[in-house]
Amino acid sequence: MFILLSFLLFLSPTSLHTESTSLPSLPLSTSSRWVVDAAGRRVKLACGNWVAHMEAVVAEGLDKQPIKTISERIASMGFNCVRLTWPTDLLSDPSLASLTVRASLLRLGLMEAAAGVQANNPEIMDLTLFQAFQAVVSNLADSNIMVILDNQITKPGWCCSNLDDNGFFGDKFFDPEEWLEALTKMATLFRGSTNVVGMSLRNELRGPNQTLEGWYKYMQRGAEAVHSANPEMLAILSGLDYDKDLSFLSMKQVELAFTDKLVFELHWYGFSDGQDWQNGNSNEACGNATSNFIRKGGFLLKDGWPLFLSEFGVDVMGNSLADNRFLSCFLSVAAELDLDWAIWALQGSYYHREGQLDFDETYGVLSRDWSKARNERFVYRLAGVQKPFQGPGLSNIPQYNIIFHPLTGLCIQKKSLFKLELGPCAQSDAWNYTLEDDIMEKSSGFCLQVEDIGKPAKLGTQCGESSSKWKLISDSKMHIASEMVFNGSAVCLDVSPEGLIVTNFCKCLRHETCSPESQWFKIISSTRYETGQKALMDLLPTGALDVYTPIVGRRRLL
Ligand SMILES: *[C@@H]1O[C@H](CO)[C@@H](O)[C@H](O)[C@H]1NC(C)=O
Ligand SMILES: *[C@@H]1O[C@H](CO)[C@@H](O)[C@H](O)[C@H]1NC(C)=O
Ligand SMILES: *[C@@H]1O[C@H](CO)[C@@H](O)[C@H](O)[C@H]1NC(C)=O
Ligand SMILES: *[C@@H]1O[C@H](CO)[C@@H](O)[C@H](O)[C@H]1NC(C)=O
Repeated sequence: MFILLSFLLFLSPTSLHTESTSLPSLPLSTSSRWVVDAAGRRVKLACGNWVAHMEAVVAEGLDKQPIKTISERIASMGFNCVRLTWPTDLLSDPSLASLTVRASLLRLGLMEAAAGVQANNPEIMDLTLFQAFQAVVSNLADSNIMVILDNQITKPGWCCSNLDDNGFFGDKFFDPEEWLEALTKMATLFRGSTNVVGMSLRNELRGPNQTLEGWYKYMQRGAEAVHSANPEMLAILSGLDYDKDLSFLSMKQVELAFTDKLVFELHWYGFSDGQDWQNGNSNEACGNATSNFIRKGGFLLKDGWPLFLSEFGVDVMGNSLADNRFLSCFLSVAAELDLDWAIWALQGSYYHREGQLDFDETYGVLSRDWSKARNERFVYRLAGVQKPFQGPGLSNIPQYNIIFHPLTGLCIQKKSLFKLELGPCAQSDAWNYTLEDDIMEKSSGFCLQVEDIGKPAKLGTQCGESSSKWKLISDSKMHIASEMVFNGSAVCLDVSPEGLIVTNFCKCLRHETCSPESQWFKIISSTRYETGQKALMDLLPTGALDVYTPIVGRRRLL
C-alpha cells in the first residue's frame, strides 16, 4: 500500500489546506434524500466525531491544544461539521451540571490532564461543564464548522456494551422521561445558535431490552420534543443493534407532526463484519457487506430519506489489514451514494479511557498530541468524499461519470491521450460509461483502451471494439476488466506505483485472501462543477456560466 501511494508525495499535502468555507445559510432541512440549506442547495455533511461524554464530561484534547487551534485544524482538514457527543447526565444530574472543569478533572484524579487544560485553555478551567461545552461549540462556529449534538449515553463513560444498563429505553440508567427532558433542554439551550444544525437523539440503541415498539414510541416522542423546543434542528434517529439496523423502516415509517427535518443515521465498522475482511476474499467481503448495508438502511436513500453514516472508522496508520480492506470498500460506497458521514473519530487521545490515562486513539484523525493529522495521506484520501458529487443546486451541467479510486481517494484524469493518471477528483475529467460498455472521455470523444499487460491504458478511437469494451466484474463490481483476454486471463485497470493508469492481470477476484484494492475503481455519477475542470466547460449550456459564479466563489478548490 505504501509503495503504491508513493506518488502521493509529489502532490503537496498543503494543497489541501485552502481557505475555510463559510457556514451554509441555516437552518438546514431535508429535500427527499438530501440535506439542504435555507436556499434549498445541498449541504453535504462531512463530519468528525468529537467526544465529550467520557467521565470528565469535557471535550477531549483541551489538555493538548487550545480549542481555537483544534477547531481551525478540523476546518483545514476539510471537515465542515463535528458530531459532538454528550451524556444525558450533563443536563439531568445537578451535581454534575454545577461542577467546574477543574473540579471535574481533579475529582477523577486527572492531574496531568488538569495541568494540560490549565496550560492550553486556562479560560475554561473555571467554567461549568456545560459552559465549557458551549465554548467548544462557539469556537467551532468561529471556524465555520457545523455541529450535531449527539446524545451518546446517560452515565458519562466509554460507550457501548450490551450490559451497561444504558442501552435501551427503560434500562436502569435510561429513563425515557429524563432523556426527553434532557433533549428538550439541550435543544432549547442552542436555540438561535449559528452553527448547531441537528441532534442525534440517542447513540447506538442496543441490549436485551430493545424492542420495535419501544423504538417507534420513544424515537417519535424524542423527535417531537426536539422539534418543539427548537424547530430549526434536524432530528437524527439512530437504529437498533448498535445503530446497525434500520431495516424495519421498510415496513413502517415513523409518524411525526413535522416534515423536512427528519434524518436517519447508521453506523458501519469493519469489525462488525466478523472475520470477513481478515480471512475472506476482499471482493466477496465487500459485496456481502455492501448488500448488508443496503438491506439494513442504505435503501432509505432510494426511498427518499436522508441517511447520515454517523460512525465508521479504521486504524488511521494503516496497521490493520482488515481495516484497510474495509476502508476501500466503505469509501467506494460513500462516493457512489454520495453519503453524508461522520468519521470516528477526530480525537487523538482521551484524558482517561477504560482505566488508561492519556489513552491513544488509533482511530483518531488527529495525532496523539492533537497538533497535526495522525496520517496526512489518510486525510488526503478522505478528501475524495468530502464534497458533494450530486444534489439540489449543485450546478446545471448534465450528469457525467467520475472514475473514483478508493485506495487513494483520487480520480482518473487525462494528461494526454496516452497518459492517464490519478489526480484530485475536483479536477476529474468527465467520462461516460455507456450502455455499450465503452468508457468515453467526453471532451475528446475518445474511449479508454487496453494496450498490453503492464502498459498504460490510453485513449483511442476504437470505441465499440473489444479493446475498448469494459465490464465491472467480481462480487465487489469494482474491477474494470477488458473484454480482451490476454493468455487466457482477464485484464483489469490498475495503478502503477507512479500513479499511472495501467492494465494488469486481474487479481484476487474470488476465493483467495489477498488485497485487490489497487484495482478497485468506482464509476460514479456527478454534476459537480469546479473551475479546475476545464473539460466540463464543453458541457455547459450556453449562458449558464453566470449561474455558477456564486457557487464557484464559495467553493474550496483543491
Ligand atoms: C432490562 O430490563 C430489566 C427489567 O426492566 C432490567 O432489570 C434490566 O436491567 C434491563 N437490562 C439491561 C441490560 O439494562
Ligand atoms: C459472503 O456471504 C456468503 C453467503 O452469506 C458467505 O458464505 C461467505 O462466506 C461470505 N464471504 C465473505 C468473504 O464474507
Ligand atoms: C452517456 O452517453 C449516452 C449516449 O451514448 C447518454 O445517453 C447518457 O446520458 C450518457 N451518460 C452520462 C452519465 O454521461
Ligand atoms: C503469455 O504467454 C506467453 C507464452 O506462454 C509468454 O511467453 C508470455 O510471457 C505470457 N505473457 C504474460 C504477460 O504473462
